[in-house]
Amino acid sequence: MRIGILGAGAMAEALGAGWAKAGHDIVVAARDADRATELAARLGARAGTFAEAAAHGDAVLAALPHAATPDVVSPLADALAGRALIDCSNPIVPGPGGPMLTTDGGSSAARRIADAVPGAHVVKAFNLCAAEVWARYPDGLAVPLCGDDAGALDLARALVTDLGGLPLDAGGLDRAGYVEATAAFVIGVWFAGGDPRTVLPLDEHARG
Ligand SMILES: NC(=O)c1ccc[n+]([C@@H]2O[C@H](COP(=O)([O-])OP(=O)(O)OC[C@H]3O[C@@H](n4cnc5c(N)ncnc54)[C@H](OP(=O)(O)O)[C@@H]3O)[C@@H](O)[C@H]2O)c1
Repeated sequence: MRIGILGAGAMAEALGAGWAKAGHDIVVAARDADRATELAARLGARAGTFAEAAAHGDAVLAALPHAATPDVVSPLADALAGRALIDCSNPIVPGPGGPMLTTDGGSSAARRIADAVPGAHVVKAFNLCAAEVWARYPDGLAVPLCGDDAGALDLARALVTDLGGLPLDAGGLDRAGYVEATAAFVIGVWFAGGDPRTVLPLDEHARG
């Protein structure tokens, strides 16, 4: 698969390394061209501009801060039209009792990105776990996917599988806000020293 990566930080490297290992053809872009070039060299990929990465990818990963992503992708609307745009962002800020959603009461981060590039097929994915987890322990991790386009979801499932994870269909893009809220919840529990997995029953008991 051809993959464009927007951003050259922790998530770009963690996910990009797994996809490069799986043999995908990757173009990395960042606002700092040197950082893109350095990451591309580590991945065995190529560096380019945001427009080149967007035009390259069958799937394009936005690995940028949630607040910056709509402004970065909006000028790329033509290049991104018809492509799968993977949004891994967490619209959270530190709060007194743990991470707080910046989107509370409004559109999800994924929806804001979709509104900025109406022709792209946005899929929410990979936001629940830390970059170090995707880099070191992706095997067997279920990855909730929210999106509205069947083809884009197929690509997202393949990207999950290629990391060693398990795709978990989690509904349309209108469900993305719930996955973003789940990230705020689980990160809060982890940082408080708890184990959020313990709130869930065994599957055979879950339906009562
Ligand atoms: N890190 C995690 O464990 C984790 C886990 C799940 C989800 N996420 C989400 O993944 C996304 C990326 O996180 P990250 O940890 O990879 O961040 P990061 O390491 O800070 O990298 C962010 C990238 O975005 C670029 N960037 C920042 N502001 C920008 C702007 N205004 N315009 C264009 N580019 C900009 C940075 O460029 P510079 O280097 O020039 O600043 C860098 O290339 C975030 O939305 C985060 O919520 C992160």
